[in-house]
Amino acid sequence: MTSELLRRRRLVEKIYHKQDDTRGPGKWPLLGSKLEMMTWGKTTAVSAMNEAAHRYGDVVGLFTGDVPIILVSGLEAIKEVSSRDDFSGRPISIVQTDIDKGSHGLIMAQGEKWKEQRRFTLRNLKDLGFGKRSLEGIAHEEIEEVFEEIEKLSGGHKTGWKTPVLVQDILGAAGINVLWHIIAGKRYSHNDPYLKNLMDNVKKLLKVSEIDGGVVATFPLLCKWFPFLTKLGEALKLRDTLHEFIQEEIRKHRESLDPENPRDFIDIYITEVDQQKENKLSTFEDKQLVFLCVDLFMAGSDTTFNTLTFAILYMILYPEKQQKVQEELDRVVGKDRLPSLEDRPNLPYVEATLSEILRQSSVAPLSVPHATLYGEKDAELQGYFIPKNSALLLNLYKVHHDPKIWGDPQNFRPERFLDENGKFVKHEALIPFGLGD
Ligand code: HEM
Repeated sequence: MTSELLRRRRLVEKIYHKQDDTRGPGKWPLLGSKLEMMTWGKTTAVSAMNEAAHRYGDVVGLFTGDVPIILVSGLEAIKEVSSRDDFSGRPISIVQTDIDKGSHGLIMAQGEKWKEQRRFTLRNLKDLGFGKRSLEGIAHEEIEEVFEEIEKLSGGHKTGWKTPVLVQDILGAAGINVLWHIIAGKRYSHNDPYLKNLMDNVKKLLKVSEIDGGVVATFPLLCKWFPFLTKLGEALKLRDTLHEFIQEEIRKHRESLDPENPRDFIDIYITEVDQQKENKLSTFEDKQLVFLCVDLFMAGSDTTFNTLTFAILYMILYPEKQQKVQEELDRVVGKDRLPSLEDRPNLPYVEATLSEILRQSSVAPLSVPHATLYGEKDAELQGYFIPKNSALLLNLYKVHHDPKIWGDPQNFRPERFLDENGKFVKHEALIPFGLGD
């Protein structure tokens, strides 16, 4: 073991011993904390993490192989991590150091580059209608197509489906279409081979990254030398295909660009790239745009269609809640039009139900890993020592299912978000999107 690894191990072990000697499971060669965690009989990573929080507390030290991971589970500790600059880094993997030669896009970027790209992206996505009424026409077109497709596949009408239908892909196509409309100004029919190809690639890449994320972090050298053994090679191939797809779109946009009249996010971004050409410190370049678009797909597709699929599942499981939602929609919106964002303040029960769906489903249970900024400095959190190069997992699932906060977290109860007058009330512990500003 190198002296650097020994140093890291000693530092992380301090986290166990600072207040008592049970701040995390034991560490074994190669397997890290996995061996002890396997004896707990938990079948998913999230349930194992919750068990770790249950046994050891709000800040737990773990290892995947030799890599230190800090599991942060309490609301206060999560707030602190999310608001501190020194925890705004992302774990740096072999992909960034050896393959990409830098951290691009938004999800893995850090420091000033991350701040500038994030500010620019959020501002322009909002200006293009993200979360606003101006995008409603597109969302409505998508919903109509979702209904048509379900009716076609189920061989029935809106109210009487004859055959079960797998809704995930249909909702996925709708979500990707809305995102692609903002990014590239286009919308496709759900059967269009172009859209199917884009969706297939995003889905496959999500799947491979999900399976292999842990392996890449645990055995970085194995991934570097034998990428085909760890599926990293497959993930990179899929990513290249997506990159080519987006590069082609950027090329087409450049051919017809009118900087005075940007049509979509790609137009706005490439205009900025051109304007900053002479600025040597500029973080705007075509390559960064390509990574950024892939990040938007990766972060925005799975989360959205999994949440929508859970929404349907909960409405099936709790027909009495479904009925209340339907009654409110019929009363406020009526049956002749689709709901609009303008109706939102008048739909407290629908709003409360959506909040309860986000809480119960917690589709990003451990958020996106944070890290000490650039892995450069040791830090302290809630009295615990956090060594540099630690990844921090924010246990949003635990916050959303904490009996001390919710009383009966296991129950699906939208009413917890309503006051005695039936008015919707936000809850500070509902943090499905994390706590970034
Ligand atoms: C139900 C839907 C969604 C959920 C539950 C969700 C959840 C999250 C969470 C927990 C994070 C990590 C925050 C952190 O770093 O502390 C995140 C980051 C991110 N999400 Fe979402 N998200 C959703 C939808 C979307 C959509 C539709 C988009 C795309 C337009 C998107 C784009 C991103 C991006 C780019 C990041 C990285 C931000 C950064 O590093 O600053 N998300 N999301």
